[in-house]
Amino acid sequence: MADAQRSYATARPKTPEEIAKMRIAGRLAASVLEMIGDHVKPGVSTDELDRICHDYIVDDIDCIPAPLNYGGRGQPPFPKSICTSVNHVVCHGIPSPRKVLKAGDVMNIDVTVIKDGYHGDTSKMFLVGEPSVLARRLSEVTQECLYAGIRAIRPGAHLGDIGYAISKLARANRFTVVQEFCGHGIGDVFHDDPQVLHYGKPGTGMEMREGMTFTVEPMINAGRRHVKILPDQWTVVTKDHKLSAQWEHTCLVTADGFEVLTLRGEEDFS
Ligand code: MF3
Ligand code: CO
Ligand code: CO
Repeated sequence: MADAQRSYATARPKTPEEIAKMRIAGRLAASVLEMIGDHVKPGVSTDELDRICHDYIVDDIDCIPAPLNYGGRGQPPFPKSICTSVNHVVCHGIPSPRKVLKAGDVMNIDVTVIKDGYHGDTSKMFLVGEPSVLARRLSEVTQECLYAGIRAIRPGAHLGDIGYAISKLARANRFTVVQEFCGHGIGDVFHDDPQVLHYGKPGTGMEMREGMTFTVEPMINAGRRHVKILPDQWTVVTKDHKLSAQWEHTCLVTADGFEVLTLRGEEDFS
């Protein structure tokens, strides 16, 4: 069957009122990543970073940290308010007082806040001290992969265009794309349809329409793409223990392209 004739799990386009709420939730999620940067340094534990983010989310911006007690299918509830994924941890790292950052580490912090019933979900890499050339390049390329995916967003384009753009750039840099985890529809629901794969073929998959909101969140590995889940049932690591990086934004399909709802002040898409 021609791909255009398949049916896909789709995304419910949001109303203008919902989009207004998504803009607010997105901006507040971004503010958490802007706030935490100064606290990321050698000697701080990921549990301390979780506590700072939790208190900021609850007390300063009056939001709910969506990961806290978030229940997956058959997984134990996630016990913390952010995910901290250091070095070979791909995603869903659990903050811990025993995980103390040291110079040379690279870490993803993933923040999801709920404001007025709507979610903003975003993550970025933080470099601790002076990481290796490889670690810095992996982080930079992964950010460019996110941006390449986002630039493929417009009405009439397909989700496969996003995955294609991401995987093409990753492969050109001799990195690999994690396939077990993907972006997702988001709004009043945290993890909604559709799945936004970070690999794919142009012109395949769900057609994007104005008003849809979803995340793009590529996980890119320095070694092989394969991952495993630790016995805590959350922490995802690379099987070969080589480095992994991830960046994430919550995005809106606009009339003529995209809007990044979790844009930080340091970023510029013009
Ligand atoms: N923020 C993650 C995402 O991008 C999900 C984390 S769920 C948690 O989808 F429970 F692990 F926090
Ligand atoms: Co997400
Ligand atoms: Co996230």
